[in-house]
Amino acid sequence: MYIEKNQQIHLSRRPEGMPVADDFELVSMPVADISEGEVLVKNTWMSVDPYMRGRMIDRESYVPPFAVGAVLEGGAIGEVVESNNPAFAVGQKVAHMSGWREYFITTGEDLQALPDSPIPEQAFLGVLGMPGMTAFTGLLKIGELKEGDSVFVSAASGAVGAIVCQIAKLKGCHVVGSVGSDAKADYLKNELGVDAVINYKTTQDLTADLAAACPNGIDVYFENVGGAHLEAALNVMNDHGRIAVCGMIDQYNATTPVPGPANLAQIIIKKLKIQGFIVFEHWDEYPAFVQQMGQWIQEGKVSYRETVYEGIESSPEAFMGLFTGKNTGKMLVKLA
Ligand SMILES: NC(=O)c1ccc[n+]([C@@H]2O[C@H](COP(=O)([O-])OP(=O)(O)OC[C@H]3O[C@@H](n4cnc5c(N)ncnc54)[C@H](OP(=O)(O)O)[C@@H]3O)[C@@H](O)[C@H]2O)c1
Repeated sequence: MYIEKNQQIHLSRRPEGMPVADDFELVSMPVADISEGEVLVKNTWMSVDPYMRGRMIDRESYVPPFAVGAVLEGGAIGEVVESNNPAFAVGQKVAHMSGWREYFITTGEDLQALPDSPIPEQAFLGVLGMPGMTAFTGLLKIGELKEGDSVFVSAASGAVGAIVCQIAKLKGCHVVGSVGSDAKADYLKNELGVDAVINYKTTQDLTADLAAACPNGIDVYFENVGGAHLEAALNVMNDHGRIAVCGMIDQYNATTPVPGPANLAQIIIKKLKIQGFIVFEHWDEYPAFVQQMGQWIQEGKVSYRETVYEGIESSPEAFMGLFTGKNTGKMLVKLA
């Protein structure tokens, strides 16, 4: 099937500081006919994620940088629309890393067939995908969560944070989140049952508000933000507390080196355990996670929200919106 117009987003240059529209380019090019053993996939949903900002920088990291002038990559869901590969029937829904484009041809090694599920397919980019797995692994394994712990979660209404909050509540914990708007605070309190929420944009004193919200201190801090959040958490942590360092979004667009918190000596005084992690190192546990999370969703114990932008051309805006808090729950782009 010859496709004349396959729209895709290229990185036109490396962003300096906060990404802007001119860092991206909408390009259209045809897709050739498939050969023996190949399939043609039409993408239906794509994910934009904060880690992609790191891949826009030319530096060594746990994933290689994106190339300038080439199509971007990222998690996406698609449907096989033509197949010369017996492993993939037409109509099969697949998850893969070839997002930021409408169509692509593959031999199939990079495709994971989605299981039959009553849960909508795009959930496999959020609550049942990488962000959900990050929440699960980071909180239970890295944070060593115990029943009844006092837990602080930053970026608490996002794809990862909102799931962390709910798992911690399921485990009988006292949960405090920080977010950047009152609407997000209402969502956490009224829909997710979070015990207290701090709006970090309006607080006068993050440490004081955190201490008031956590009368028994903090046993586990799920770190998504860094900077002032980490400093405040260190002030309120309990002895032998654990910090699962998932992300530091506050510094992803920094143009100069970011100073560390002034109170790192609290790590010694409180005998803290601080561990960073990358979810993909734990991917062998994904099947067990999907089973458990799928069950929680179907039992109504975990809910999820999505913020959806429409059309491939809106994907740079959706991506940039991650850094200005435009999303509640998972930020997604609907392609078809
Ligand atoms: N280690 C891993 O394997 C792994 C895997 C996935 C994600 N992560 C990390 O986990 C974190 C959350 O990712 P996500 O996919 O769930 O994104 P997300 O929370 O859905 O979206 C980002 C949110 O971060 C908040 N934010 C943006 N800039 C901020 C700033 N300067 N200070 C405080 N909050 C800010 C915004 O919410 P507000 O309106 O509340 O500001 C925004 O909605 C990120 O740091 C990401 O890099 C790590």
